[in-house]
Amino acid sequence: MKVDVLLGLQWGDEGKGKVVDVLTPRYNIVARFQGGPNAGHTLEFEGHHYVLRSIPSGIFQRGQINVIGNGVVLDPVLFMEEANDLEKSGVDLKRILKISRKAHLIMPTHRLLDAANERMKGDRKVGTTGKGIGPTYTDKISRHGLRVGDIAENFEQKYQAAKQRHIALLTSMGSEVDVTALEARWMQGIEYLKQFDIIDSEFFINKQLAEGKSVLCEGAQGTMLDIDFGSYPFVTSSNTICAGACAGLGVAPRKIGEVYGIFKAYCTRVGAGPFPTELFDETGAEIRRIGHEYGAVTGRERRCGWIDLVALRYTIMLNGVTQLIMMKSDVLDGFDTIKACDAYEVNGKVTRDFPFSIEQGIKPIYTELPGWKTDMTHLTSEDQFPKAFSDYIAFLEEKLGVPITIVSVGPDRQQTIIRKH
Ligand code: GDP
Ligand code: IMO
Ligand code: MG
Repeated sequence: MKVDVLLGLQWGDEGKGKVVDVLTPRYNIVARFQGGPNAGHTLEFEGHHYVLRSIPSGIFQRGQINVIGNGVVLDPVLFMEEANDLEKSGVDLKRILKISRKAHLIMPTHRLLDAANERMKGDRKVGTTGKGIGPTYTDKISRHGLRVGDIAENFEQKYQAAKQRHIALLTSMGSEVDVTALEARWMQGIEYLKQFDIIDSEFFINKQLAEGKSVLCEGAQGTMLDIDFGSYPFVTSSNTICAGACAGLGVAPRKIGEVYGIFKAYCTRVGAGPFPTELFDETGAEIRRIGHEYGAVTGRERRCGWIDLVALRYTIMLNGVTQLIMMKSDVLDGFDTIKACDAYEVNGKVTRDFPFSIEQGIKPIYTELPGWKTDMTHLTSEDQFPKAFSDYIAFLEEKLGVPITIVSVGPDRQQTIIRKH
């Protein structure tokens, strides 16, 4: 069997959690391959509302196995809080969740380093989620990291060595360090983690595939936040692209099947960094208000703008997207007209290709389309789409070169329209 991948094509928060939950019944296993508790994936069904951070979004269906892969960075305290809440709501997590031995651990000092790095960057700060993501991946790459599998042997010694390194670094950056309280809680988290099935997830997944089982990989963040191809340096510290699923789970590239690319009918971004189609006017405020564009975890205001087809073509190319999923089109239900950026003007020249830097001098060139002026939130099939909406889909498919196979018209699991193709 092949491994399908679902990932964000914009700057995150596209609605990945919702669609992973919807697609889970088609799969045997759901696996996260990168990122950590910087993610906030929202699921709504039967009146429930959940926000998942480190735990995959396939835990609420029919007992599918969920895997936290080696590419993920795990904070034991946040994991314990998240898992405890889920267990209280009746999810039998210890039965269905497996965690890779090779996933890296986020330490309390990583969070302090995240804050210190941001402080030192001044007005070039990234606006991180403050969860220690960058410093944990830095330690992984510089070969200093602590992994889940390390808990089994001489852990205290390994932890102390890593902590002392961090303290020296923090002191050199002028930060006061007292981790006593944080550390005690963190060690509780480590003890809690030991109750879970800690596995060699690369073997598990490949064996399952050999037995004919199917896997859905759940991306976190979005391609425009990818460490290599995103709007560097205003990015996260992992490969959010499809290739990240191979490295973050130990799945060979030729085993990748469908690649679901998910995007909003407009665009949002949280944190700092360039955003060519950002709207600073009343329209941007209206999208934020109607779309409830505030961070799922931090409550931070999301910056809003029109859909950017130049960036989408780039992210579709990088991921080899085979199917597109359009989210939150209902947010635009009341708009008279809708704009889509199909090209940039850079230093007086028009380009349809994504440039090296989008930090300065980018003028979006818009195509204006008629709005559909219909409440779409109750629609159940594409036959009910208003003509202007069908035309909008046809326009996007023509510009992006990939079919839109799923349209989401509200946050609930039910508000999902699977198109015939
Ligand atoms: P993720 O990080 O990609 O999983 O996305 P988030 O959960 O951070 O943000 C998506 C937000 O949009 C959540 O509040 C969802 O409940 C909500 N949402 C998802 N799909 C739709 C949709 O089609 N319409 C509307 N109005 N809201 C949606
Ligand atoms: P989900 O999975 C949106 C952003 C942060 C910041 C940058 C780096 O819910 O889509 P980090 O803490 O990763 O070092 O922050 O990336 N960011 C996200 N933005 N959705 C996310 O995740 C994000 N995870 C990180 O705001 O700009
Ligand atoms: Mg999110």
